[in-house]
Amino acid sequence: MRKQATTVVLLASLALGLPASAGEGEHGEDHESPFAGMHLLLLMHNMQYYTHKLGLAVDANNPTLEGFYIHEVEEVIETVSKIDEYEGIPIAENLKKTLMPAFEQLEAAIDGGERDAIHAAYNELIVGCNNCHAASEHGYIHIRRNHTNPYPQDFSPHD
Ligand code: HEC
Repeated sequence: MRKQATTVVLLASLALGLPASAGEGEHGEDHESPFAGMHLLLLMHNMQYYTHKLGLAVDANNPTLEGFYIHEVEEVIETVSKIDEYEGIPIAENLKKTLMPAFEQLEAAIDGGERDAIHAAYNELIVGCNNCHAASEHGYIHIRRNHTNPYPQDFSPHD
């Protein structure tokens, strides 16, 4: 009986999980980004916030949480990619040249699950942030990896 109930719960959560992941990306017709319409400054605020949390998940060797936060970073990136120009700076173009390759590498590393590759790719993501700042007249905004957890959140696996 108990085993059966567990299976039902598992199947139910799988069924719930499928449409959610199938709805992302190219086919997300009714999917609106939580960051849609935000000013670049606030997008950057979110970029920093979710990138930091992603790093803390990486530090804690927590693949499920990495999956969650890489998705949030992606949502921010997608919204930034819709800004063609900001104060004369070609945002979408700079994003494509700097952060995008690093982001895609990190996404692939997280999918692959190899810890060393994930750590290295995360460091490259931070380099990507700074390369875009340098290319976008904001080189004085320098991001560096921060291993400190100021949040009331435990980043170690709880699933
Ligand atoms: C498309 C180029 C681009 C990319 C990629 C980019 N930034 Fe920015 N960032 C900017 C620009 C331009 C500003 C200045 C925005 C303004 O003046 O309103 C900025 C501002 C900021 C700020 C200052 C605002 C604040 O909240 O303190 C932070 C922090 C920041 N970015 C973090 C990041 C992080 C972290 C990443 C990488 C995950 C990143 N940025 C990637 C272009 C970029």
